[in-house]
This record gives sequence, C-alpha cells and structure tokens, in this order.
Amino acid sequence: MMRSLPIGIFDSGVGGLTVYRALHDRLPNERFVYLGDTARVPYGTKSLATVERYAVENSEFLASLGIKILVVACNTASALALPKIRERIGLDVAGVIGPGGRKAVELTQDIPKPRIGVIATEATVASNAYFDAIRRASDSAEVLQQGCPLFVPLAEEGWTSEPETFSIAAKYLAGMKEFAPDALVLGCTHYPILRDVIQQTVGENVRLIDSGAATAEEVEKLLTEKDLANPNLIEGERKLCDDLDHFYVTDAAERFARVAERFLGTQPSKLEAIEVYGGDQVRQKRDR
Ligand code: DGL
Repeated sequence: MMRSLPIGIFDSGVGGLTVYRALHDRLPNERFVYLGDTARVPYGTKSLATVERYAVENSEFLASLGIKILVVACNTASALALPKIRERIGLDVAGVIGPGGRKAVELTQDIPKPRIGVIATEATVASNAYFDAIRRASDSAEVLQQGCPLFVPLAEEGWTSEPETFSIAAKYLAGMKEFAPDALVLGCTHYPILRDVIQQTVGENVRLIDSGAATAEEVEKLLTEKDLANPNLIEGERKLCDDLDHFYVTDAAERFARVAERFLGTQPSKLEAIEVYGGDQVRQKRDR
C-alpha cells in the first residue's frame, strides 16, 4: 500500500524541477507529487524562522495528500528547515545538502587535501550547512562558499549563454577561480541550468557536483533500504511531466508552466494552484 504511494517533492518555486528531473530519470517506476511555493519564492533571502514556517506548511500539505517519502528539493529549505520538518512529519525526509556534500567528498577522495567550492543562495551560505556536511564526510577538505543570488532570475529568464550572464558569473566566481577548487557543488536548484556558463568560468578541470542528481542516488538507496520502492511496474515509457505526476503551485501557475518548459522542455500535464497556510491546509483552486 505505502509502496505504491507517490514521492513528495517541494521547492520554493520552479527551480526544484531540476531535482524532479533527476529523480524521474533515476526512478522511472515511481510517481511524484511536486509543490512549488511560487507565492512565497524566493527563500534564499529570507530568515530561518520564515523558511522553517513555509517549509513545514509545504511538508504538511504534501503529507496530507498521501506520500511515502518527502524530498526537500530546495537547498535553502534543506539547509535551514530539515530538523523542524522531521519533527513535524512522520515520514522519511531527504534533503539535498547532505547528498551534495557527500558526493563532492566521494569524487575528490583521491586528493589528500581536496578543495571543495560551494555556490548557493545567501541563506544557504550563511547557514554553513554545506560546510558542515562536507566536514562530516572529510576532515581534510578545504571549503570555500560563495553566494550567487542573480543566478536564480537569470536561469528563470533562460539566459544560459548571454554575455551578461558570463560577466555576472565572472564577477561572482573570481574568488572561486583563485581558490582553484577540485570540485564545485551547485548548491541551488537553479544552478544546473547555468552549468555551461559556470563550467566555462571556473575552468573545464573543475568537477561540478549536481546536488539533485546526488540526492536521486541516495533516494533510490533509501527506498530499497526501507522496502518502499514501487512494486507495481509502470507500463510504457515514462515521460517528464506525464499525467502520472501531479504538480501544485501556490501562485502563478501559468508562469510556472512557462518556466517548466524552459527547464524541462515540457509542461506539467497536471498542474493546480492551491494555498497551503497556517498548519490546516486550505486547498483551494485558483484561476490559472
Ligand atoms: N530553491 C532555492 C534554493 O535551492 C532557490 C530559489 C530561492 O531562493 O527560493 O536554494
């Protein structure tokens, strides 16, 4: 029964679709229910108390729909709110910070004193969550973190190769280039969209770590360990955003669909606007 339930995913908005894509690619036999909190995005500039409150409300909403595990796709919410979510939700919860940090350490384990860079939102950087995750996996790694807040709107605009994007990347990443990391963690949902710009700016020899992909690997292991993988084979070819997956947003569904097309090359077939407020979930359809 539990095993045939979908996996819940939430993000502050549309960026978490990069994590959805990684999960979907890795787990074609699973269904997903995704919540993008588009009414309250961005989280990356907000305080701990606010991000915790939003994250708990989002998690309670998804739990009320019936999910078997929860994936917190938003790096900022993973950095700030995982303990609060776990306290409130009686489900296994996976964040993206631990998997991203562990993957960076794993891929640099042959280097005696690896240098690991992290780029993320201001709030994720200030929380030191990546620094702590990397430290837990390695006591020799040197870590440099850098906030790159303008990458979020640039990715949503689809400015993935404009000269302006390259010049902003050069400015943000000048210190990182000097640090010469062996690996660089893309510690924000949107950054995989700007992967080429980031790679060209820091140099081709730097290994970029996609936290979403690392999370999908760990979620696969978690499902096996907990005997939660879906035993009923889904027949036919799975496609991103097909009608087995259900998408909810808290505002501006049309814009979400447009940016989804940019990020995934397709739009959700099932997309609903709802509200998630105050502990009691108010599910209310809104006009798209
Ligand atoms: N989803 C957020 C993250 O990964 C980026 C957007 C925001 O600031 O809410 O940190």
